[in-house]
Amino acid sequence: MQRLIAPSLLSANFLNLEADIEMVNQSEADWFHCDVMDGRFVPNISFGIPVIQAIKKKAQKPLDVHLMIVEPEKYFEAFAKAGADIITFHYEACTHIHRAVQQIKALGLKAGVVLNPHTPVSVLEDILGDLDVVLLMSVNPGFGGQQFIERTYEKIRKLRLMITEQKATALIEVDGGVNTHNAKALFEAGADVLVAGNAVFKSEEPMEVIKELKANG
Ligand code: DX5
Ligand code: ZN
Repeated sequence: MQRLIAPSLLSANFLNLEADIEMVNQSEADWFHCDVMDGRFVPNISFGIPVIQAIKKKAQKPLDVHLMIVEPEKYFEAFAKAGADIITFHYEACTHIHRAVQQIKALGLKAGVVLNPHTPVSVLEDILGDLDVVLLMSVNPGFGGQQFIERTYEKIRKLRLMITEQKATALIEVDGGVNTHNAKALFEAGADVLVAGNAVFKSEEPMEVIKELKANG
């Protein structure tokens, strides 16, 4: 199992994104988590293609682009061109998941499906083998700094069992309310990748927080 940390730039300082990107480059973090919101799938609007393009110019680690948008398949190519390395999109926002996953892979990227807190992991049973990542939301998507939903542990355990049974290789990523207090338990439950926004960027010592999150693995 892997122990990866993906700081979410949603909580970064937008007045000086370059400094925060540099901090992540220098840190023990593994991916840049980029949250794209459209004001339709989620009740918030964040940033889009031009910002991802700019991030790509400075980021020295893979861009993990989390699309919280309706009709995500319309934008895969644009986000690939902008520099995404991994694209995840919501199960709840897409009708033809299998086709969408193949589209991302055909662009040469890693593909993942995201599940909202209310969506059971069992819906992925017949597509698990095609996925590089399953992202479990541990808050309702749309905002940083929300409280972690405890039920997520059970979902991680179930998904880990499904992956083992199917001999699948998908990474389990967890997003929302992750901090230095719950990281260890999340890794122990079977998570491979932890996203952290507020815990990292609202800290005085972001590099130390990243180190601690990772050490907990
Ligand atoms: C929420 C986003 C998250 C968010 C996490 O919709 O998907 O990636 O940035 O923020 P924290 O870690 O502060 O809960
Ligand atoms: Zn996210």
